Amino acid sequence: MVTELTKGVYWVGVVDWGLRKFHGHELSTHRGSTYNSYLIVDEKIALIDTVWGPFQNRLIENIREIVDPAKIDIVVANHSETDHSGGLPAVMGHTPNATVVVSSRGEESVEGHYHQPWKFQKVKTGEKINIGQNDMVFVEAPMLHWPDSMFTYLTGKNILMPNDAFGQHYATAFRFNDQVNQEELYEEALKYYANILTPFSKLVLKKIEEVLALKLPVEIIAPSHGVIWRKDPLQIVKKYQEWAAQVPQKSAVILYDTMWEGTRRMAEAIGDGLAAEGIPFQLFHMAVSDRNDVIAEIFKTKAIIIGSPTLNQGILATIAPILEDIRGLRFQNKIGAAFGTYGWSGESVKLIEEHFSRCKIPVVAPGVRAKWQPKPADLAECAKLGRTVAAAVKAA
Ligand code: FEO
Repeated sequence: MVTELTKGVYWVGVVDWGLRKFHGHELSTHRGSTYNSYLIVDEKIALIDTVWGPFQNRLIENIREIVDPAKIDIVVANHSETDHSGGLPAVMGHTPNATVVVSSRGEESVEGHYHQPWKFQKVKTGEKINIGQNDMVFVEAPMLHWPDSMFTYLTGKNILMPNDAFGQHYATAFRFNDQVNQEELYEEALKYYANILTPFSKLVLKKIEEVLALKLPVEIIAPSHGVIWRKDPLQIVKKYQEWAAQVPQKSAVILYDTMWEGTRRMAEAIGDGLAAEGIPFQLFHMAVSDRNDVIAEIFKTKAIIIGSPTLNQGILATIAPILEDIRGLRFQNKIGAAFGTYGWSGESVKLIEEHFSRCKIPVVAPGVRAKWQPKPADLAECAKLGRTVAAAVKAA
């Protein structure tokens, strides 16, 4: 169903209630998502972003409720990732002479995806395109989160369309932030930030300062996923400033995998040590936990404690993906510790500690290794590790 944001500006996107994995299978989306596309009807007609390819016919049907798609003059591709550009071939099929407006890095990536001789217009930060009563003003936002990422601002209506920024993978019955469950909304917004934007946090802070310095009145922030921020729209900007600062809670996350429960018992003993010092923790068995949900918890917390038995002179394969995420997401202001059982060679703890070092996460307690099943003395060492980490959390 098409939704009017304000007179002459329409949401013509798609709600994808069934989506459970995104970016291939990289990101869990328990509450689905939306692909937001916006149609501006002025003297010229502009479409801001499209939808993921499988939904392109729905986009065309939605546009047709307002105007004949052949009448679109300008298609702004704020970002070429296919969840937003996938509908471009269908849209351009209806209006082949429309101009595709892209950032300075956008032409290469849109062309790279679709290999079509569309008429491109590159824009830089501050450039305007007049569409009649109002202008579209562009702000390049490289690496938020791709080199081509760009924001579009509509004067007169005071709408910022920042593409992926300020989005959430959140399918809902209604389109606006004041119409949905606030707890779910912020849970999804944080998970999205933690899993996608964390490594670009410094750029997020810089870009927010740059946009605020433009002193553009903002009445609506209309991202490309999830709900549209119309009630107190700057609330999500402030939240991004807070998240980008990466000031963690005084808490811990313990994550582990286990073969015969020894490493699990060690994890629980570490938890006992943390709790004895009043530090809350969450404990995740990675073989059965959702990695992206765990990342959201890691994002919030100060201490990351990782355990694996040794297998084949390494760690369990189920632990490797989250180690790779921790490296790639470049979390700031964390501390770490490691533990695990072994039978003979016993490399796992050392490997995890080396990984912390590569991630520039200081190890604040000596790793604990237990041979075969942990003895009471081993579990006491684990509790001591928990207390040591707790002290470092408190001291931070
Ligand atoms: Fe970077 Fe929603 O795509």
